[in-house]
Amino acid sequence: MHVTHLSLADFRSYARVEVQLDPGVTAFVGPNGQGKTNLVEAVGYLATLGSHRVASDAPLVRMGADRAVIRAQVKQGERQQLVELELNPGKANRARINRSSQVKPRDVLGIVRTVLFAPEDLALVKGDPGERRRFLDELITARSPRMAGVRSDYERVLKQRNTLLKSAALARRHGGRSMDLSTLDVWDQHLARVGAELLAQRLDLVAAIQPLADKAYEQLAPGGGPVALEYKPSAPGEAHTREDLYEQLMGALAEARKQEIERGVTLVGPHRDDVLLKLGQLPAKGYASHGESWSYALALRLASYDLLRAEGNEPVLVLDDVFAELDARRRERLAELVAPGEQVLVTAAVDDDVPDVLTGMRYSVSDGTVERV
Ligand SMILES: Nc1ncnc2c1ncn2[C@@H]1O[C@H](COP(=O)(O)OP(=O)(O)OP(=O)(O)O)[C@@H](O)[C@H]1O
Ligand SMILES: [Mg+2]
Repeated sequence: MHVTHLSLADFRSYARVEVQLDPGVTAFVGPNGQGKTNLVEAVGYLATLGSHRVASDAPLVRMGADRAVIRAQVKQGERQQLVELELNPGKANRARINRSSQVKPRDVLGIVRTVLFAPEDLALVKGDPGERRRFLDELITARSPRMAGVRSDYERVLKQRNTLLKSAALARRHGGRSMDLSTLDVWDQHLARVGAELLAQRLDLVAAIQPLADKAYEQLAPGGGPVALEYKPSAPGEAHTREDLYEQLMGALAEARKQEIERGVTLVGPHRDDVLLKLGQLPAKGYASHGESWSYALALRLASYDLLRAEGNEPVLVLDDVFAELDARRRERLAELVAPGEQVLVTAAVDDDVPDVLTGMRYSVSDGTVERV
């Protein structure tokens, strides 16, 4: 798929902007702080309902405005769709498809698909487990948009269960009567049921992406690998099917219950899991060099692209400011690997940072204006 038109209102630094897009490569070039990333961040938002830079929507709304609108015309084969999201921080966001009446923002997922490369990706390798969980869960949702519902169900169940555990912990500490734990049993079952569904998808994804990441790393940094991904569940075990994962989670919850009631928080489940990223025999985190970590992060994104494309979901490739961070050889390799993409959006501070193989349309971004050059 590709985006043919992007239109923003009160999004980030833009009061209004209209950008015409073609298939192939489009580069947005301009000095620092002029609004290049803001443009591609909006495209990414349509694909994930989140920003790759901030965890909440508030910074996405132009200072002084109370809502932002992102609108994109999308073409997939012969099919055209208009998607529209209205961001209302502190209130429910709104969505429309083809100007029809409102749909849930989640229903928009799957229309725009992106694989976004950004300097922030270094955190995939060097950062907390939450960064890697988000990577997996966003990719799961790109493969299968209905997983957005499973993810939010999980968040909801987890929140309720934590509330219950917190009051159990408080009751215990203040020497009150211990609470009726049968309610907790019910929430264990909910957590294990939804958690098992999420886990099954994550395990399937890790297995699918592992060989692709290894291949991509070899292409970017020949001889530097191999890379291996190992899923590290908080509920240990070998289960793979949903039924077995459910049992595994139930067992681990039973085992952790005493400690959970002491601490008042859920200690077992997909929200506590991690993926170990190995480079050669060592974990990348804590061992890999800066350049190796960068290559690793890029390899994970390239693998995501390969996976979605192989499954018939050709995504828009977004490369936000990545070339400036790479040495000449890796820059060329990355450029060659992404150049055939159906649509590639690149941002760079200067023309020289856009590799020659990525010729295409160019926009100059300066002081809030986006002009074709
Ligand atoms: N909510 C907002 N309201 C108004 N301005 C904003 C808002 N959020 C960000 N900005 C402004 O947008 C600018 C940053 O835009 P952006 O990140 O797109 O820059 P860039 O062109 O990608 O720069 P660089 O080359 O440094 O990456 C900053 O000047 C920032 O102050
Ligand atoms: Mg930028």
